[in-house]
Amino acid sequence: MGQRGVTVWFTGLSGAGKTTICQVVEQALRAQGHQLEVLDGDVVRENLTKGLGFSKADRDENIRRIGFVAHLLTRNGVIVLVSAISPYREIREQVRQKIGDFVEIYVSTPLEVCEQRDVKGLYKRARAGQIKQFTGIDDPYEPPDNPEVNCQTQQETVEQSAQNVLNCLKSLGYLDQVPVLQQI
Ligand code: ADX
Repeated sequence: MGQRGVTVWFTGLSGAGKTTICQVVEQALRAQGHQLEVLDGDVVRENLTKGLGFSKADRDENIRRIGFVAHLLTRNGVIVLVSAISPYREIREQVRQKIGDFVEIYVSTPLEVCEQRDVKGLYKRARAGQIKQFTGIDDPYEPPDNPEVNCQTQQETVEQSAQNVLNCLKSLGYLDQVPVLQQI
């Protein structure tokens, strides 16, 4: 028997910690022998969705394409870790419906904290009007209604957040089997 595929979708503001938590989850799963792939917003936008901007239409298209690839991988037994702001609820729900095996992780770091950290210096530029349509500043973020996990990074460490994600995947039965190498 092979591994059961699932898309683990991290949503939240820029600088919330999605990628960081994702990396810890990735390492833990790899160490357990799981087969996985990572689709990170920043990387995807340099490749699969290069050229798309940050209008609602372009963000939805970005998410639709990420969802499409995540679906292909998931149905072939891969654990897919997606990390993208994905600010609009409706397209996230559409992707969830399509994939089925979908676990939503809300990295709920408040705007004030993200802005204070400002790891990439983008909030400062957005406040100065140098970047338009920046999520949380002059563009909306719609939080999930019923995420499987809420990572409250201002109250817990990265390791605790990652552990909560892993516990959730385990309780849903996604970590019961690791891929078996085929004998030729
Ligand atoms: S999404 O909204 O379409 O899901 P995605 O996660 O792929 O966004 O990309 C977000 C990244 O693009 C941010 O982490 C940031 O580095 C960069 N970025 C550039 N412009 C913006 C903007 N206007 N709003 C949000 N992020 C932006």
